[in-house]
Formats: sequence, structure tokens, C-alpha cells
Amino acid sequence: MEELRIEKLIAGGFSLARTADGKVALLDAGYPGEVVEASKKKGRSDFHTMKVERVLVPSNSRRERLCRNFPVCGGCDWQTLDYSEQLFWKREVISEQFKRVGKIELEDFEIVPSPRETNYRLKMEYVCHGGKDGLSLGLYRRNSNSPVSCQGCVLGLKDFEKARSGFEEILRKTAIVPYNRVTGRGELKHVILRGNGREIMAILVTKGECLPDENRIVLEVRKKLPYVSTLVHLMNANDRVVMRGVSRTLFGEGVIDQELSGRKFEIPPVAFFQNNLEVTESIVSHIFNEMKDTAGDSLLDLYSGIGTFSITVGKKMGRVTAVESNPVSVKALKANSNLNGMFGIEIVSSDVIEFLKSDQRHYSTIILDPPRSGVGSEIGLLDKFGASMVFYVSCDPTTLARDTAKLRESGYKISSVKAFDMFPQTWHVETVVCLVKKR
Ligand SMILES: C[S@@+](CC[C@H](N)C(=O)[O-])C[C@H]1O[C@@H](n2cnc3c(N)ncnc32)[C@H](O)[C@@H]1O
Repeated sequence: MEELRIEKLIAGGFSLARTADGKVALLDAGYPGEVVEASKKKGRSDFHTMKVERVLVPSNSRRERLCRNFPVCGGCDWQTLDYSEQLFWKREVISEQFKRVGKIELEDFEIVPSPRETNYRLKMEYVCHGGKDGLSLGLYRRNSNSPVSCQGCVLGLKDFEKARSGFEEILRKTAIVPYNRVTGRGELKHVILRGNGREIMAILVTKGECLPDENRIVLEVRKKLPYVSTLVHLMNANDRVVMRGVSRTLFGEGVIDQELSGRKFEIPPVAFFQNNLEVTESIVSHIFNEMKDTAGDSLLDLYSGIGTFSITVGKKMGRVTAVESNPVSVKALKANSNLNGMFGIEIVSSDVIEFLKSDQRHYSTIILDPPRSGVGSEIGLLDKFGASMVFYVSCDPTTLARDTAKLRESGYKISSVKAFDMFPQTWHVETVVCLVKKR
């Protein structure tokens, strides 16, 4: 056991201190300025990972927890830190990753708070497990694959808690057994809720094709959970990804409606959609503001999902091309563009890198919003499109810093950086980097 003073919060949700032997320690908890007692978990030649056992001197920025499952549940990292401090440290994490990974010194930049600190998540993925009262729907324990209770969770939309416990009650009276990934026995892996504040789409994810007592579940959900407008069965044999596989609609439309920037969207069960609606609105407005007169008339929307940027930002453009590899999202993007009367969007169902290698046209503006892994070394291929503006939207400051450095090598200059707190109570943060090039 060692007494340590915490220096700062860093990417990955860790806090950082220095041990008596001069090594860096990455701790699983604690806030800057705090003195803690920590035990060693793993030691490497260059740093230790440690567990905070006791806080000896708490920070003035520490507050009461918002939910009784913190800190055991892995849904939140910084729930007991004042919100203004969470914002401060998210900015610091971005600056540090740009400096460390991208060798870029960022000038002062703004972080936009989330209008809602709690009940902002439009989607929650609950893990099905055997609890003390029978089948339970929880979340994963921090840094672990073992499920824990999340009763009273404050992250999901307001009506999610009622729906989660309603599903527990209904499913406990059926023959369904929680899936056990060690023994391979059981059926139900997850219950996913997607909402829009008025109604909920619920998705039952099983390992195989079997959904015991299906008819009974449908009857009970319709009777007891009237705000569930559609129920979907997703068959997913893959234990590493939650939202994958073939789905069938048990009742309702099999999609959930959402409105963003005055545009209508239909979200299917296994497609990506940004998790915080108000913050996504702010990102769209920010892109509009930055575009001003420089954006030209053609937009290339890479990693387009169901059309979040093609359909909002794209309405100002004469020509829009959207590139997306998930066939479910591609289908939804086609439906969404028709729904909004944007029949001219060119929708390319392709891996982005394959597209970058083969397409030879010109675009005046590019928006890219890749998954956490970013684009990688082939981001240099963007240059041939001759765009005067590039908006890189990212939920991972580390890969964003790496890819931004590459774009600078091909002559792009950072014109602005703005962070958006898409994920309050966690260390995660969304960043938009706007890059420009004189042509
Ligand atoms: C972070 S989401 C962004 C989606 C969309 N821009 C939005 O704001 O809703 C990333 C998207 O990239 C897609 N994707 C992931 N890897 C891809 C690849 N290699 N090529 C094309 N699309 C990919 C995913 O299916 C997902 O829709």
C-alpha cells in the first residue's frame, strides 16, 4: 500500500500520480489534489497500475454520488466530480493527447457543456444476468466483464429505468435463461433500449435463434409497458459486439423516430446514432457556423451512419456523397434521405478506405466521423479530393490527434478546435477539428 497525491486525470478514465520510486502510477479512481492510499495491481518497467483503497484527503471538487451503483458500476467514471471540473479535465485530456500523440500545441479552445448532465443517453445496453432476485438487467462492473446492478441509473433517458425494471419483471416470469458466456448456456444476452423521450424501441438480444415464451413476452410488454412502441428480437452469436446480427420485429415498426436540426430520422435497431441529442444539435450548428463562405457546394460525408450530417449539413450543398459500410445503416440512410425529400444524396455502401483509394472526384468539404480507432495512415488519401474544409468529428482524442497530425503533413491547417460534452459523468468527450487549405 502506498500513499499518493493525484496530479491529474488522463485519457482512459485514469488518474495519475507518481510513486516513491519515481514511476508513473495510473489509478482507477481519485481526483486531482487528493491524497489516496493505493495498492499495486500490475507493475511494468515504466509504470504501475494501482487501485485506490481509501481517499485520505478529498478534493474540494468531490461531490455526493448521483446513483448508488457508483463506483462499482462501469457506466460512469467521474460521477462524484463537480461538473465544471469534469469539463476542465476533458479539455486537458484533449490538449494532452494532441501534444503527446500529435505533437500539436492547441491554442485555447472551448468545451460546450451538455444541457443535460443526467438522463441524456438515447440508448442503453443492459446486460442480462442471474441476480439475487432472478433474471436481472444491469451494466458491466468497472474494468470487468462481470455484470452488476444498475438500478436507479441516471445516464439513460428518464423513462428507461421504468422500462428496464418492467422488462426484468416480465422476463422473470418466462422460461428465458440469462446467457452465460463461460458455459455457453442460456439465451438472453442483452436488452437494449433506444428512446426519443416519447416512446421506446426495445431490443432483446439472444445468442441463438431461440426466444422462449415469445408470444407471452409480446402480450405482457404490450399490456404493461405501453410506452414501448416496438419490440425487436436480435440474434447475435458474436460475444464481442452487442449490436450485430439478424433482427426481426415482434411488434411495431421496428424503428424509432428522432428529430435533429428540423430533419426527421428513423433509427433501426443495429445502426449507430449519436447518444446525446442536444449536443449533436450543437455540433451540427457549429459545423454550419464554421462553413460560412468557404465550404463550397459539394460534401463528402465519410462514416455517414444513417445520415446525421448528410441530411442536416448536406441541405446547404448542391452535391452530397455519403459513405458507410454497415448495410443496415446504408438502408436507413436511403430511407432517411427520402423521408426528408433529399433524393439526390449519393449513398455509397463501402469501406471508407476502399472508397478513398478508388474515388477520383472533387469535393469542397469533407466531414469524417470514424469509430474510436480513427482512420489511420491512409487519411493522407483525403488530399486528392481537393477539399478546402475538413471537419473531423471524433469521440477519441488519441486517434484524432494522430490523424490530425497526418492531415497537417498534407498541407491542412487547423482553423478551429471545439469540444462537446456528449457523455457527462464519464471521461469520454467528442471533439470537432476544422481544418482548412487554400486552393
Ligand atoms: C461514430 S459513427 C458516426 C456515424 C454518423 N456520422 C453519425 O453521426 O451518426 C461511425 C460510423 O462509421 C461506420 N463505419 C465503421 N467502420 C467503417 C468503415 N471502415 N468504412 C465505412 N464505414 C464504417 C459505422 O457503421 C458507423 O455508422
